[in-house]
Amino acid sequence: MTTHERMKELVREYYDSYNKIPPEHFSYIFHIPQNLDEVEGAIEYIGDRKFHSFVELGSDRGGSLWLYSNFLCADDAEIVSIDCTKNHALYYIVNKLNTIGKNVKYIESHSHTIAPTFYKDVDLLHIDAGHHYEGVKTDWDMWYPKVVSGGVIILHDTTGSGHDGPPRLRAELEKAGFNIKTFSAPAALGISVVIKE
Ligand SMILES: C[S@@+](CC[C@H](N)C(=O)[O-])C[C@H]1O[C@@H](n2cnc3c(N)ncnc32)[C@H](O)[C@@H]1O
Repeated sequence: MTTHERMKELVREYYDSYNKIPPEHFSYIFHIPQNLDEVEGAIEYIGDRKFHSFVELGSDRGGSLWLYSNFLCADDAEIVSIDCTKNHALYYIVNKLNTIGKNVKYIESHSHTIAPTFYKDVDLLHIDAGHHYEGVKTDWDMWYPKVVSGGVIILHDTTGSGHDGPPRLRAELEKAGFNIKTFSAPAALGISVVIKE
């Protein structure tokens, strides 16, 4: 199966959640706010690697958590989703991932609060939480040291959004000589992949 075909399958499975929930949960909102061409580009670039420790900062309704956990994580991966806002769709997706054999823990907290007491090594980090410069730069400064050498950091919104943070951080990382590649589809927000050397 190609990456594109698998993507379509996973997106269908994600939105199919809506057809499975009981009527009293019909207010849950399922949404993947990622451009799927950009996600596909990032996934193909990362290749066949399967990660064992995935942390996502900013999961919202669990869209990227669903895609990256399925595409990029090994069966034994420890997956941690951190989001400061309680969200029913996210709970649902976390449960759905755990039901299919993933090992996902959701932490309802602020990424800057959790970082000082988070001692595990991370080999895949997705930064998609605060989008103001200070917020995303602090996420980078606090969480980048936890990523192992050879690990991967995915950054969302790096080519444009309502906030200047991720594009400015991307420009700084490029200038500083990080191994960074950006995927940018028309009218989308951009995904950058950093490989830690
Ligand atoms: C753009 S959304 C994430 C989208 C998600 N990654 C996806 O693609 O499905 C940003 C989320 O980050 C959360 N957030 C913002 N700042 C945060 C922080 N510093 N720590 C934890 N969560 C944060 C917000 O509550 C929101 O749900």
